[in-house]
Amino acid sequence: MTTIEQKAYAKLNLTLDVLGKRPDGYHDIQSVMQLISLCDDVSLDVGTGEDWKLECDQAGIPTDGTNLAWKAAGLFYQNMGKDPQGITIRLTKRIPAQAGLGGGSADAAAVLLALNRHEGSPFSQEELLKLAEKLGSDVPFLLSGGTKMAKGRGEALSALPTMPQCFYLVVKPDFSVSTPALYQAIDQAPEVYHPQTNAMVQALQKGDLLEVAGYLGNSFEPLVAAEHGEILAIRTVMEDCGALGSAMTGSGSAVFGIFDAFDMAAMASMQLMERYQTFLARNIEEGEV
Ligand code: C5P
Repeated sequence: MTTIEQKAYAKLNLTLDVLGKRPDGYHDIQSVMQLISLCDDVSLDVGTGEDWKLECDQAGIPTDGTNLAWKAAGLFYQNMGKDPQGITIRLTKRIPAQAGLGGGSADAAAVLLALNRHEGSPFSQEELLKLAEKLGSDVPFLLSGGTKMAKGRGEALSALPTMPQCFYLVVKPDFSVSTPALYQAIDQAPEVYHPQTNAMVQALQKGDLLEVAGYLGNSFEPLVAAEHGEILAIRTVMEDCGALGSAMTGSGSAVFGIFDAFDMAAMASMQLMERYQTFLARNIEEGEV
């Protein structure tokens, strides 16, 4: 039996533009995505000689074959045409669930990366991305990391200039949002907010953090903020503490602020941590995954 370990990093959507519904039921999106240092720890025992098992330190996370990390291991070995002779997956969760941070998808991406390393790279990066796409729209990005443009349903990735160095404060309100329900709601919305993706790309090209922070935006945010005052309340605290910009990530409910000084991010965190889960994070570059 061999034990392998891998960090599973969370993502932020610096911009998320929902363009429209497709015939296959998914939505075309355009999103500037960033990998951040908030992470789960994934540990795998391969070749246990026992039934497959998943253990998680947090209640409420499925510990059977419905967990995306388990599915990722199944898909990996099915495509490799090998029986690993028993796997135990252990998840140490820090990324809050149903937050728009890609937590479950990050665990799945980490399993693919760890198993590919363990098995001597039977799959190229391109082949791994194809497997990732089968597991979920965000999994390919979480596998590759850095700063990327995601198009299609989120799986079509292209390179962007690296996000300037900064500090993120990520705050998770108590409520959670169902991603499919929110996609349905946006189809019914009389108006959809579209962030300025091109301006964001230009700001990244200039490497101008203040400008980047000014173009954060998310098509889902007005829908969620209309129902939950916490979104705006959290953003206001962050901006009062000196955040250069703030927005909701993914389908929520987590909100993030961008700071150029750690002490300001820490001060905002102190103000918000009594009521909410708060996390300080930095960028994770592509080569760090
Ligand atoms: O791809 P994933 O399984 O993460 O997506 C979860 C759900 O979110 C999908 O079943 C779909 O309802 C919705 N979705 C969508 N368009 C996307 C991504 C997700 O409609 N681009």
